[in-house]
Amino acid sequence: MTEPTLFVGGAGGKLGRRVVELLRERGYAGRIVAGTRDPDKLGKLDGVEVRRADYTDPAGLAAALAGADRFLIISTDQIGTRLANHLNAVAAAKSAGVTELVYTSMPAPEAPSAISFAPEHLGTEEAIKASGLGYTILRMTWYTENLLGSLPGALARGQWYTSAGEGRVSYVSREDCARAAAGALLRPAANRTYTITGPAALTTREIAAEASRIAGRPIAVVDVTDDQLAAGAKAAGVPDFVIEHFIVAFDRNTRERKVEAVTDAVESLWGEKPMSVADVLAANRAALLGTP
Ligand SMILES: NC(=O)c1ccc[n+]([C@@H]2O[C@H](COP(=O)([O-])OP(=O)(O)OC[C@H]3O[C@@H](n4cnc5c(N)ncnc54)[C@H](OP(=O)(O)O)[C@@H]3O)[C@@H](O)[C@H]2O)c1
Repeated sequence: MTEPTLFVGGAGGKLGRRVVELLRERGYAGRIVAGTRDPDKLGKLDGVEVRRADYTDPAGLAAALAGADRFLIISTDQIGTRLANHLNAVAAAKSAGVTELVYTSMPAPEAPSAISFAPEHLGTEEAIKASGLGYTILRMTWYTENLLGSLPGALARGQWYTSAGEGRVSYVSREDCARAAAGALLRPAANRTYTITGPAALTTREIAAEASRIAGRPIAVVDVTDDQLAAGAKAAGVPDFVIEHFIVAFDRNTRERKVEAVTDAVESLWGEKPMSVADVLAANRAALLGTP
């Protein structure tokens, strides 16, 4: 029997590129097609066919998907306008004869959610289910690597202001997300929704303790309200949009216990246990200390 042709959309991004590499590393015997807006930027990938695929161009996308059986739709970074593009991707898949979709969503996208982009994920999930195609939805918890954006500042100041309270986040590395996505592409879709998580859900204090230990510097966690968090970020010059939609919204979402589930999905899809927060921070110690 011929192996299904796997199409990785968004292959020019960090996650997509890694999914393609992992499929190759696992020795997948069927065809692998990498779709990206900019094939020149993606460059040559051994054993992989590269095609131009832009979710804002439905006709071009349907042509790019010709012959593909399973299609990984990686949510785009165009927050605010991406639902229409994701819906284009689902429709193009159907018209091109794709039989199974894999989609990268977020945990608990159902309303009410503090996360302003949750409806984009929920809307995409609903369109995928309504398409009649086979599907695997991967609700990926926040990347552990996101912490490398905020922890260096907290370590430098010695303080981490948070309104997350005792809420926990089951951070997962981008590498483990790529493994889960590659694993999902390698098996027939069972119309399942997985939550993709790291091995544990940690409070802000627990993460601060790990970061302090690895960096060799103290961090005091300071509990504040959402309003105090917003005021502090504003005083530090953070743009209003980032404060409202990311800093405060993410802490509130954590406090509301929307990202604390821990699952064995990475291991069941890929066969290896996911990395811990400490593993990822230790591997990125220089970035943590702000010394690239
Ligand atoms: N869980 C988390 O904490 C977290 C954090 C950040 C982002 N994310 C989400 O996860 C996705 C993958 O993460 P990443 O680290 O790989 O992000 P990234 O490197 O910034 O990649 C952005 C992705 O968006 C795609 N894209 C943008 N516009 C597109 C369009 N018009 N048509 C098709 N694809 C388009 C890019 O594809 P090409 O460049 O190949 O066209 C690329 O795959 C992000 O796009 C975002 O939705 C999750």
